[in-house]
Amino acid sequence: MTGNKPQTTGAAPPSVAEVTSRLKAVMDPELGDNIVDLGMAAVASISADGVVAIAMKLTIKGCPLRVQIKNDIESRLESHPGVTKVTIDWGEMTADERTAVMTRARWNAREQAPVTQIPLNTRILAIASGKGGVGKSSVTVNLAAALASVGHTVGVLDADIWGFSIPRMLGISDRLEARRIDGIDGIEKPRMIPNERVVGKGLLKVVSTGMLVEDESTALMWRGLMLTKAVEQFLNDVHWGELDYLLIDMPPGTGDVQMGLARMLPRTDLIIVTTPSVSAQKVAIRAADMARRSFLRVAGVIENMSAFTCEHGESYPLFGQGGGQALADEIGAVLLGQVPIEAAVANGGDIGEPIVLTSQGPAAQAFLAIAANIMNTTVPVTEMGGCTARDPEAVQVAISKRS
Ligand SMILES: Nc1ncnc2c1ncn2[C@@H]1O[C@H](COP(=O)(O)OP(=O)(O)OP(=O)(O)O)[C@@H](O)[C@H]1O
Ligand SMILES: [Mg+2]
Repeated sequence: MTGNKPQTTGAAPPSVAEVTSRLKAVMDPELGDNIVDLGMAAVASISADGVVAIAMKLTIKGCPLRVQIKNDIESRLESHPGVTKVTIDWGEMTADERTAVMTRARWNAREQAPVTQIPLNTRILAIASGKGGVGKSSVTVNLAAALASVGHTVGVLDADIWGFSIPRMLGISDRLEARRIDGIDGIEKPRMIPNERVVGKGLLKVVSTGMLVEDESTALMWRGLMLTKAVEQFLNDVHWGELDYLLIDMPPGTGDVQMGLARMLPRTDLIIVTTPSVSAQKVAIRAADMARRSFLRVAGVIENMSAFTCEHGESYPLFGQGGGQALADEIGAVLLGQVPIEAAVANGGDIGEPIVLTSQGPAAQAFLAIAANIMNTTVPVTEMGGCTARDPEAVQVAISKRS
């Protein structure tokens, strides 16, 4: 066992296609492509008891990205319930293979228009749930604020096109401006500029349909608009600029957006929010099933609305207990944390001040601990080492530095 994956019994091992698909979510940011298409990774074998062996070929043995690639491969494969162990056999490319990969990387940098305006090194977290009202938006704004407060630049994309709540919860409702500007594809065209809010040492960049329409009732007119099209536009036509993290607040109970994300941004990690009750947990499994079908990784589970503690220190599990851990165990993911019920969470949402910025209470502490887990363990920022993958000369330099 390479990581401390909770054991999941009885799940069938993944197919070669499933493993390959998960490997395709692992990027070599310097070479601007995923490790499968670059010819660096292949499935060597999958045993009946769930041991997956991967054959990796690095451009050069001492590749500085090795640790990051290893962690990415392990975490993406181990989150499959049928995988019991991941082994990686590390090899080195021959001179000919290195030339081929260099040619491909140069071609990518020159010819291949990026599918979205999200930089290659941005870590993408989609906050999803099986049903509505469990606290996805509250989790999104508090994690975004916590990540920004320590100095990260964090994009927040409100994918709840009709039921947006992010503008209110972050206290940003200015209309989005558009201006003609170069994208990361080098094409100049009108692009939406995200609204910004400085948080601590970092920055939030926020986009929502709530910043395009006058009020929530006007938003109903958007019903005719295809949900996935709107999200696609937010990924393609917004000038996001540099981002360490992008947090996507998902609409309740829809598979379309997840499938669209899986197509446009296969490196998206899902965070599944559930309440502690066992019935909620059953519904949340649907979200995890969808993740599996779209080959997205579930980075972890957050239990929200856990036991309420009154001022006398007594604890009341109003919405049941144990659902978060049970869900995490069932889908083979980690429980990132439990956020208690606290009136301050709802108040903070109403006044546009995420409680991680204003409170020292247990709910704020829980959100901060989850953010720390994300930054330090589950989804750390990509180390780029000063690379610019879209610049052919930088690709050349990156590769020659490795050899
Ligand atoms: N830990 C908590 N303690 C108290 N209230 C909470 C907590 N988490 C969320 N809430 C409140 O519960 C309600 C639903 O939360 P939120 O809007 O974040 O859920 P959602 O999953 O995004 O909902 P939807 O599916 O409608 O988008 C809000 O009024 C919010 O303020
Ligand atoms: Mg919401």
